[in-house]
Amino acid sequence: MSIKLSKRIERIPESVFTTMSRLAVENNAVNLGQGFPDFNGPDWLIEEVYNAMKNGKNQYAPSIGILSLRKNISELYKSIYDIDWSYEKEVIVTMGATEALFSAIHSVVDEGDEVIIFEPYYDSYIYDVLLAGGIPKFITLHKPVFSFNFDDLEKSITNKTKVIILNNPHNPTGKVYTKEELKFISEIAIKNDLIVISDEVYEFLTYDNTIHIPISTLTGMKERTITISSAGKTFGFTGWKIGWACANEQFIKGIHSIRQWTTFAVNTPCQHAVAFGLTKIKDYLPDFRKLYQKKRDFIIKELENSLFSPTIPLGSYFIMVNIPQNKNDMDLALELVRDYKVATIPPSVFYSISDEGKSMLRLCFAKQDETLKNGVKNLKAYKV
Ligand SMILES: Cc1ncc(COP(=O)(O)O)c(C=O)c1O
Repeated sequence: MSIKLSKRIERIPESVFTTMSRLAVENNAVNLGQGFPDFNGPDWLIEEVYNAMKNGKNQYAPSIGILSLRKNISELYKSIYDIDWSYEKEVIVTMGATEALFSAIHSVVDEGDEVIIFEPYYDSYIYDVLLAGGIPKFITLHKPVFSFNFDDLEKSITNKTKVIILNNPHNPTGKVYTKEELKFISEIAIKNDLIVISDEVYEFLTYDNTIHIPISTLTGMKERTITISSAGKTFGFTGWKIGWACANEQFIKGIHSIRQWTTFAVNTPCQHAVAFGLTKIKDYLPDFRKLYQKKRDFIIKELENSLFSPTIPLGSYFIMVNIPQNKNDMDLALELVRDYKVATIPPSVFYSISDEGKSMLRLCFAKQDETLKNGVKNLKAYKV
């Protein structure tokens, strides 16, 4: 039999994360590539999953998400951002941010629609857009502070543009968009009647007292923004895959239409645990932030005067470091994992139009202190 996969599949290459993680294991390397914590989130939240299971919360949840979680998401955003999302109509719980992104993009992008994506990007945006038949258009965030040229954005809009995808705080650069940048994006969106899909999974991970501003809170943006977040990042349990989207009723209905035929509903006991976790978030966040600030400061300090001079992330748990000028990211990442036993991510895979990614590596500092120390030591052992 000749097995023929769909044409759609041909557009999807093996992800760089799969490749680098395989090489990290094969070479017994310290893994600073993989983008998630190598330690547990809080024990008290794990207890809540047990409790939910023991209390019989083991059957399908409502397709839109359990009531208490939707209520707590809505209350949280009211209290911190002063934004009103109706828990009945404007919040949906998803299988991580990934499902929210897939469903949001599939519910608004038609064949031939253009979608603006800032590069470097979180790669699922591209493949979601391509799978939906859309056409990605790129705007580069330029080194060293990863700012974009306002003119580039304005000029990239055509009569086919339908969506801007924003990721704030940003993976892989750690950029936190300024109010001025967000205002400009909002003005463009409003002027051209565009939808903004705003991936804010790192909303609670900002450093040096940097304030995260959800673009939905800017004038005229609430009705045109789909805001996505994830408990996986906020509580450090990425494997639980509890995420959500907040948006006006029509968008939520669109996302729900897709999800009915993909996942239908999300893991029930973890939804109960996260609902509880959100009631404690104000006590939890200060220590959570301190923990990551310490790790970020450590890696910056260690690499400051090395061959891998760091850019300064103000958010997320990623850092982009510069590499020696005569090297490119792909070759160097392979050399480092093989000969220096440290896995990194070559960021050129996150760029489509600019070459800037070739001059950097992405590291993830959501790692135990021991892992970070060993990873940095191996990096510093590198000789040109
Ligand atoms: C920017 C960004 N968006 C979305 C996701 C996926 O989130 P989740 O694990 O909740 O699906 C990630 C995970 O690394 C991410 O970095």
